[in-house]
Amino acid sequence: MCGIVGYIGKKEAWPILIKGLERLEYRGYDSAGIALMNDRAFFVCKKKGKVVELSKFIKNLNKEEIKKNLSGKIGIAHTRWATHGIPSDSNAHPHLSNDGTIAIVHNGIIENYLSIKKILINKGYKFKSDTDTEVLANLIEDVKKHAKVSIDEAVRLALNEVNGAYAILVISKEEPDTMVIAKLGSPVVIGVGKNEFFIASDATPIIEHTKKVIYLEDGEMAVINNKNKKFNLKIKTITDKTVKIPYIHQLKIKIEELEKGGFPHFMLKEIFEQPESLRNTMRGRIVLEKGNVKFGGLEKFKKELENLNHLTIVGMGTARFAGLIGEYAIEELSGIRTKVEYGSEFTYRDVATPYRAGLIAISQSGETADTLNAIKKAKRDKMLTLGVVNVIGSTIAREVDAGIYNHIGPETAVASTKASTSQVLLLIMLAIYLGRMRGNLSKNKSQEILKEIEKLPALVEIILKNSKHIKQLAKKYKKSENFFFLGRKYNTGAAMEGALKLKECSYIHAEGCNSAELKHGPISLIDKDFPSLVIAPIDSMYEKNKSHIQEIKARGGIVIALTTEGNKELNNIADDVIYIPKTLEILTPILAFVPMQLLAYYISVERGNDVDKPRNLAKSVTVE
Ligand code: AGP
Ligand code: GLU
Repeated sequence: MCGIVGYIGKKEAWPILIKGLERLEYRGYDSAGIALMNDRAFFVCKKKGKVVELSKFIKNLNKEEIKKNLSGKIGIAHTRWATHGIPSDSNAHPHLSNDGTIAIVHNGIIENYLSIKKILINKGYKFKSDTDTEVLANLIEDVKKHAKVSIDEAVRLALNEVNGAYAILVISKEEPDTMVIAKLGSPVVIGVGKNEFFIASDATPIIEHTKKVIYLEDGEMAVINNKNKKFNLKIKTITDKTVKIPYIHQLKIKIEELEKGGFPHFMLKEIFEQPESLRNTMRGRIVLEKGNVKFGGLEKFKKELENLNHLTIVGMGTARFAGLIGEYAIEELSGIRTKVEYGSEFTYRDVATPYRAGLIAISQSGETADTLNAIKKAKRDKMLTLGVVNVIGSTIAREVDAGIYNHIGPETAVASTKASTSQVLLLIMLAIYLGRMRGNLSKNKSQEILKEIEKLPALVEIILKNSKHIKQLAKKYKKSENFFFLGRKYNTGAAMEGALKLKECSYIHAEGCNSAELKHGPISLIDKDFPSLVIAPIDSMYEKNKSHIQEIKARGGIVIALTTEGNKELNNIADDVIYIPKTLEILTPILAFVPMQLLAYYISVERGNDVDKPRNLAKSVTVE
């Protein structure tokens, strides 16, 4: 996710801001920028690329430019993780309002920015970027002009017009000793210094200056200004209710722990981020009352999508396993014949292209060469190409005809976790989108699935609350040399993903296999030292999975059964049981992924591995 940094006090702001951005680099970003207030004039420097580019630019200023531009004691800064508008200098933050009097940095998404932008354009506002954030900057200007109010009141009124998530810092030339901070859905921390304040997305840029911090709640805003040479801070809600200054926390955490959000590894942090990443994946895309899904990025190709006769899904590793789950969902809900291929193999397939064929490329990084080559082949074969990608503006995101972004922020650990559940969720939502537009899926059925989709973050929270049980299982199974992961239907792909997680993190040989396939050969491997994790939720395949578990037990095998909460039947058959909350069959893989991620994580910790960077692996495989 991106980062915001602000400073208001008595020191030169720019070194504090640049250092603060460096502290936030671990969060992943594609651009960076800074805005300083110098005697009612802004100095703005913003570029696509790394923070070091800003430092270089600033350090190359001559004496007069330094004196004129860098004396400011108030400033805001940003590392961008693009959501609207590709990474570019013009899309980087800070953004200025049309009249140049307001500067803003923003972490989050303004969902209704297009409708607001249209109104502002009709009022004569010009836009220099494609971002949602610049729309907010101009909305604040418009409100300030018409309501003739202070900057903090203009921000408050403007925020009542927007939907979405934000953590924003706003400064205005017309009130040079004021900074406005507001929060809804994105993080922001305020460090309380001696007559100075440090603001950031988390405490990493703050902790070296002060350990006293205030946390804003969602829907709150803070106004810091200078009265009689003393900076003071007021807090109110965006509904204009005064909030008494909240408890000042004393930070006790070390910086390196902060980067991992207090978790020992990025992988565990990202596993625990999944309730939030699933919310961000679905944010602004579910229209429950109509039983519809909204994908702005696909609008242009509605006609082609309606007439699709065949879909090929390509990806590698986890992305392809998500595709195996998506294949079932798309065929079941939309009726479109769908086939999953390795990106690497599809590229070299010499087969007639089906009539009205489309290709869906799944890639977290958007840079996987094997997947990119498949897209190029599909385009040569005149197929409609779609992408399910996390990194905005990545090569694959730019190569496909249209796409859907995960919107889950950067995934740092090599082992994919939050991206995988987001990929499966987006493919199921795409199946609903296609099914509804083609009349293959009723409104009621779609509403039933969408209601369950909206519950997923809370259900994942429940699983995460029981992670101690998985930690104990990891101690029990950490010395295994081999592992089977088994599942049916939607959970065949889940079984493959569970096996990949374990093998890539713990270096244990793990094989994903369709449960029914087991008796056609693989079962010869089963013995007391070859445990099997069987994904057996209460669903259409439960009885068959129960038989597969019995087949394994009959041959002296060890079984961990992953089943639905409340189902006690497997306690007497399996050696260990992991529970997931009840949900629709089509959604069980998303819940099943989480305990398998935790099992892989805890076993690899038990085995002393480099969990975030397992041996031989790269986060993005940009070679064939
Ligand atoms: C998953 O844990 C692995 N890191 C790997 O299989 C990964 O999913 C694969 O390389 C595809 O990467 P992509 O999603 O960035 O294209
Ligand atoms: N939505 C804003 C943009 O795309 C902010 C993204 C972020 O959180 O960095 O510029």
